[in-house]
Amino acid sequence: MQKTSSINSSAVLADAAILSQEELKPGFFRLVLSAPELARRCQPGQFVQVRVSDGVAPLLPRPISIHGFDGEQGTLSLLYHVAGQGTGKLSRLAVGESLKIWGPLGNGWIMPENLTGGSKNLVSDSEVSDSQNFVGGSEKIPTDAPVDADKILPLFVAGGIGVAPLPPLAKAWRDLGAEAILLYGARSADQIVTADEFTAMGVDVRIATEDGSEGVTGRVTELLKDLNTGDKLPLLYVCGPKPMLKAVAQLADDQGWLCQVSLEERMCCGLGACLSCVCKTKTGDEKVGGKGWTHAKVCTDGPVFWSREVVWNG
Ligand SMILES: Cc1cc2nc3c(=O)[nH]c(=O)nc-3n(C[C@H](O)[C@H](O)[C@H](O)COP(=O)(O)OP(=O)(O)OC[C@H]3O[C@@H](n4cnc5c(N)ncnc54)[C@H](O)[C@@H]3O)c2cc1C
Ligand code: FES
Repeated sequence: MQKTSSINSSAVLADAAILSQEELKPGFFRLVLSAPELARRCQPGQFVQVRVSDGVAPLLPRPISIHGFDGEQGTLSLLYHVAGQGTGKLSRLAVGESLKIWGPLGNGWIMPENLTGGSKNLVSDSEVSDSQNFVGGSEKIPTDAPVDADKILPLFVAGGIGVAPLPPLAKAWRDLGAEAILLYGARSADQIVTADEFTAMGVDVRIATEDGSEGVTGRVTELLKDLNTGDKLPLLYVCGPKPMLKAVAQLADDQGWLCQVSLEERMCCGLGACLSCVCKTKTGDEKVGGKGWTHAKVCTDGPVFWSREVVWNG
């Protein structure tokens, strides 16, 4: 069986003109760029490498998720939080300036259309742990049950800026008329951004803040407890800090729910060449003398993985 890892041949290098740069809340920005060729190629859950400076500092591009894209308009939006030098420089760029971006990169979320098609795409639980193949890519579903998009409850789970790659996915489910839920956790209300975009798409938005300044007090996992899933099978799409991903993945696993996670690692090339972004994923080969895990590259095998692929304690 083959790994799905590959350098994304549809990626392009674009000189993207800044159409708008808006500070939504202190330190949280939305940037809209003109990049027609790149925008036409995007899939929900992919990311771009952003070169924020023509000089030496910072030398490396910064990975940022694709927050929105419009192939017809030729535009692309990014939602980012200022974390350090690179994102700080990005936030000081203004309309009329341009920056170099490279993408779209990586494997995105499993889309509703890839859930249908009978047993074609299905992988059994035993294959999840036994297969060398179960690394990266999103075509294979870790369940024995037939999966139809209309039997699925899409559950978007965001931690802080982890909300960034979810809107294009929410749009895809909205276009199918699905009832979807966003569970959105942050430290406080001043870190909740773009929740209204989801509400406008008909998504049921539920918020948890650690300081209780908005929604339920506590972490996003509070919102998962006692969730009424009706007769549907939840499919969780999760993005946020690693401890949160791990906690949500564990909860999903305990319940027998499907769960995809978008991982973040420090990146250099974004192309699968430098190995700076590796994480551990399961192979199940320990029974035949192997280690039971392998190194996967978040930039080309991910950033989206099935939660059951990931070695969380690695
Ligand atoms: C696939 C992917 C998609 C991403 N999407 C987004 C997004 O949509 N919006 C957004 O705001 N950020 C996103 N990030 C994180 C973003 O890349 C980092 O915040 C950014 O590179 C920081 O660069 P900097 O120069 O501002 O900070 P630096 O000076 O490089 O670092 C500042 C601080 O941030 C930490 N940091 C840097 N990179 C990461 C990382 N990848 N994961 C965890 N901590 C990090 C550093 O350890 C340090 O503490 C994404 C990362 C990946 C891998
Ligand atoms: S960033 Fe270089 S291999 Fe992933």
